[in-house]
Amino acid sequence: MPIVSHVVGARPNFMKAAPVIDGLAAIGIGQRLIHTGQHYSDALSEVFFRELDLPAPDVNLGVGSGSHAAQTAAIMIALEADLVSHRPDMLVVYGDVNSTVAGALVAAKLRIPVGHVEAGLRSFDRSMPEEINRIVTDALADVLFATSPEAVDHLIREGVDPGRVFFVGNPMIDSLLRHRDRFDADAARRRHGLTGPYAVITLHRPSNVDSPENARRLVAEILRLAELVELVIPLHPRGRAVLADAGLIERDRVRVIDPLGYVDFMSLVSGATLVATDSGGIQEETTILGIPCLTLRRNTERPITISHGTNQLVEPDRLVAAAQMILASQREPLPAPRLWDGRAGQRIASIVADIVTGPLGPDLAAERPEAAGR
Ligand code: UD1
Repeated sequence: MPIVSHVVGARPNFMKAAPVIDGLAAIGIGQRLIHTGQHYSDALSEVFFRELDLPAPDVNLGVGSGSHAAQTAAIMIALEADLVSHRPDMLVVYGDVNSTVAGALVAAKLRIPVGHVEAGLRSFDRSMPEEINRIVTDALADVLFATSPEAVDHLIREGVDPGRVFFVGNPMIDSLLRHRDRFDADAARRRHGLTGPYAVITLHRPSNVDSPENARRLVAEILRLAELVELVIPLHPRGRAVLADAGLIERDRVRVIDPLGYVDFMSLVSGATLVATDSGGIQEETTILGIPCLTLRRNTERPITISHGTNQLVEPDRLVAAAQMILASQREPLPAPRLWDGRAGQRIASIVADIVTGPLGPDLAAERPEAAGR
């Protein structure tokens, strides 16, 4: 009986893994869920297991926080022991966090086939740790699942065999569509005491929250934005102190709150006039919800959210000007990017199942009509 192991560790992994795990369970493939413990707070981890109906992890490696090298190395050491004793037929890794690259490195050296969900995204900005994680993970993966056509193009340009690349759609959007009926914007508005139009802001990237100077400029602009719309700011623990020192504290029209669970957060976003963020996933979720998104970064690895969606990149000092444009304009409904249809998890599961049950292993991928370039 083949076994597929999954590595998850940080908040954005959970909503991508849930639909794949569901899809494999429906086919009857044995699975092992490995939580690295990169995120360990209830608000960044357990709440997602409860709300996304994820099975409890079979093991939690409990690595916790640390420098990039220390965290990645701790995951590798603990994961190697798990993979040696359980020897899965494939390891599936998700997104671009340190748990992702650690999983790919360990499995590749143990000659366990690696599947990478959300392969091929590129910001072309190596100052982002996630970009390094993406490049290394894709270089090692045997099967690469892409969420958008430009991700396929990046992989092919980097010399990946097209037979190993599958354009499957977006499993994070599967989770959103599956749970959408539970998003309650009115309840979120009441819970946070919001009376008028409001914006949701999230910030956690090193480029915005690590330098006091950058944080100060950004917070000044955010406080000006509060004159236009009320603000709700669920703050990731990273950078909280620097942002508070820069003046981002609870005040009139500005609610600074702890990170929210999946349903509470998506409920809040559903009723927002606009979102300003440096997150990757929120750029995609707002694309489907039709909520204008101002991405507080110089680049994005998710350009499809700009060309087919509601997203735009803004320099921090242009935040208020960009918000004013949004407030003055009409919202046009946009068609969803291709294959962001709620069935990506099923597609990934069916390809993974064919590989682990088939006689050809990962090479079977080359025989499938969905492979890139057909
Ligand atoms: C990680 C990912 C990032 C992702 C983000 C989503 C990497 C390189 N980065 O960043 O891509 O967008 O998750 O949340 O993998 N902390 C807690 N509780 C926790 C976990 C962390 O308080 O459960 C605090 C600790 O002070 C820790 C800091 O947050 O040092 C950073 O955590 P870490 O896992 O290193 O990276 P994130 O910033 O969360």
